[in-house]
Amino acid sequence: MKNYIKANEWKIIEEGFDPHLNKISESIFSLGNGRMGQRANFEETYTGDTLQGNYIAGVYYPDKTRVGWWKNGYPESLAKVINAANWIGLNVTIDGETLDLAQVQVSDFKRELNMREGYLLRSFTARLKSGKAVSVTARRFCSIANDEVAALRYSIRPLNFRGTLTITAFTDGDVKNQDSNYGEKFWEEVDGTIIGNEAYLTLRTKKTAFEVCTGSSISIFKDGSEVQPELEAIRKDKYVGQTFHIDCGQHEIFTIDKVAANLSSENHPKPLLMERCKQVVQTARAFGFEALLNEQAKAWAVKWQESDILIEGDVAAQQAIRFNIFQLFQTYTGKDDRLNIGPKGFTGEKYGGSTFWDTEAYCLPFYLATAEPAVARNLLIYRYKQLGKAIENAEKLGFSHGAALYPMVTMNGEECHNEWEITFEEIHRNGAIAFAIYNYVRYTNDTAYLQEYGLEVLVAIARFWKQRVNWSNDKHRYVILGVTGPNEYENNVDNNWYTNLMASWCLKYASEVALGLKAQQPQKYMELLKKLDFKEKELADWAYIVEKMYYPQDSKRGIFLQQDGYLDKEPLTVKHLSAADRPLNQKWSWDRILRSCFIKQADVLQGLYFFEEDYDLETIRRNFDYYEPRTVHESSLSPCVHSILAAKLNDEARAYEFYLRTARLDLDDYNNDTEDGLHITSMAGTWMSIVEGFAGMRVRNGQLQFNPFLPGKWESFSFSLIFRGARLNIKITEHGIRIKNESMVSLTLKVRETSYQLAGYAEIETGDSVIRPLV
Ligand code: BGC
Repeated sequence: MKNYIKANEWKIIEEGFDPHLNKISESIFSLGNGRMGQRANFEETYTGDTLQGNYIAGVYYPDKTRVGWWKNGYPESLAKVINAANWIGLNVTIDGETLDLAQVQVSDFKRELNMREGYLLRSFTARLKSGKAVSVTARRFCSIANDEVAALRYSIRPLNFRGTLTITAFTDGDVKNQDSNYGEKFWEEVDGTIIGNEAYLTLRTKKTAFEVCTGSSISIFKDGSEVQPELEAIRKDKYVGQTFHIDCGQHEIFTIDKVAANLSSENHPKPLLMERCKQVVQTARAFGFEALLNEQAKAWAVKWQESDILIEGDVAAQQAIRFNIFQLFQTYTGKDDRLNIGPKGFTGEKYGGSTFWDTEAYCLPFYLATAEPAVARNLLIYRYKQLGKAIENAEKLGFSHGAALYPMVTMNGEECHNEWEITFEEIHRNGAIAFAIYNYVRYTNDTAYLQEYGLEVLVAIARFWKQRVNWSNDKHRYVILGVTGPNEYENNVDNNWYTNLMASWCLKYASEVALGLKAQQPQKYMELLKKLDFKEKELADWAYIVEKMYYPQDSKRGIFLQQDGYLDKEPLTVKHLSAADRPLNQKWSWDRILRSCFIKQADVLQGLYFFEEDYDLETIRRNFDYYEPRTVHESSLSPCVHSILAAKLNDEARAYEFYLRTARLDLDDYNNDTEDGLHITSMAGTWMSIVEGFAGMRVRNGQLQFNPFLPGKWESFSFSLIFRGARLNIKITEHGIRIKNESMVSLTLKVRETSYQLAGYAEIETGDSVIRPLV
């Protein structure tokens, strides 16, 4: 746990340069725009400890699998988002001495992430070995207004000398992934072209043949006036740059603006890539750094208008929630249904930039409520498009007749994970994908989605469960053997309650949707039967499995059992663990973890969170009281679900305690792993803790409901929601809740047990059910 980020409502601020914190800060201060992103690496040379990272969404490399013991069904290769060309490069020498923060004396160092306007600012003073001192300011951003564009402005001011600055502005594609399985580099060069102050580097990924052209244009200024020093072109393999010299007087400010563009063959024909890149670069240059920055601020203002959460009375909490929202939108903007949300976004290599069940189980609610439905819909379409691969994946494992098993980790629909206990056993992920369809339709009422796409996915998932269960003569029930539930600290267990519940729910929901289609659009239903080779007998089989599904439980304690035999474990709680035991996954052998009763993340409780309507409060309470004390929360996805359930159980103190563990997870490097990248997917969980937890927001019977409370330390909190065309702002204070309708769409909603009719542009306050028009 660290505590070096300064509290501020709209900014993330680091003051003072501590090289030991550099990799953590590189993650925290990352930039992105959904199409590209980068860690907060320095522009100038840095020979200290750093993880260099630039990433282009959707551009991946299938890295040959590396395993100790091959098992049939493992994928041959694992796709990874790859470290791409570094466009920010600036080599700065001052009368021959290199500016390198690992080699000079640094003072007044400050890094600032301006979340309101979407840029990164860094400033420092450096005293070189020669005694010469310069002050530097660097500002950069990845444009959210035009997501192929990025720009930086770098200014140097000699403080105590006159001298010659030699700068090489470059784009370096000779980079590699730290997690490359065989130390291989993934790029090869297609072309490098330097024309005056413009430079273009086109690279191609090996095997996948994606091409990316990174172009840039530099402009140079002395005390604000543009100058045109002679540029020397520098070409190396996968490298383009321009070197120039400039004489600078003491206190003169020398500035270089670099506008850059990354265009990929995912969006442009390969033969036109460089030409198109030139157009983008030249347009951006003509626009200029300031104008691009203004456009950036405007684009972020729109995002904040729709998604901000305002917390009064707690600056640290305010900063944290904005940081989470900011990073979520830097990672995914929902414009492209081929893209998804990696657990680390564009902030590191861990998890390979791939898609996990995190998207459906944790991220979807955030995008549903803070953006137009098309954004969340694209997350569903992403899986729809990968249905064929999910069917192939199931076939590889021995399933047939259109059964689909979505991968646990994927880029292009193929499995990207090769640990048997996860690849083959963590099959509950299929359930989350079906649940997301349900959740999306519940929120948006876009039932057309079910007919057009959803049902196909649901049928394929249901077919998988139908084949994956087996009849136990002993139990006279259907059982599901050999699985890993969400709690990855148990492997190869039988009858994980959550998985059995999910399986049975998927079968029920798929039937319901199929029968709904039959009733409403018989013609379409017939077409689908044909397309999917679907026989109505399947519905009867599914219903029988639902009826006869086995659910482990303990009637004495009144709880659901995480899996068969869970009660045979040594009955300990987290209180029995010492600080030296934690985190278990680093301190204990895997064998010891598996035998213990300790739970990595919500498992039974994940099921109760998804399907809370099916259980009474006392059942939820008994299970919460039993499982939470055994949970070590060693997945970042864990505290948010506990926070929401605690809020539901009116345990406000614990709801807040769990919230704190998720909200500043990365800002305070709570788990000592922020240097690998940020926990992007759990950031959506932080949002859920506030909106579903503290505000108690739910969608029931097509209506919004709130059951709010105000965390003790806060004076108020407010947030915006987009719901079925209505735009609402909800504020919770110690006096109650005020809901403003900022659109003309009227709706009925509930606060606690009371229903309100909220007309367009009206507002309500609880305790005063009079509906007043907005002034
Ligand atoms: C969690 C998984 C999650 C993955 C990526 C793991 O630690 O146990 O549930 O999908 O991280 O966030």
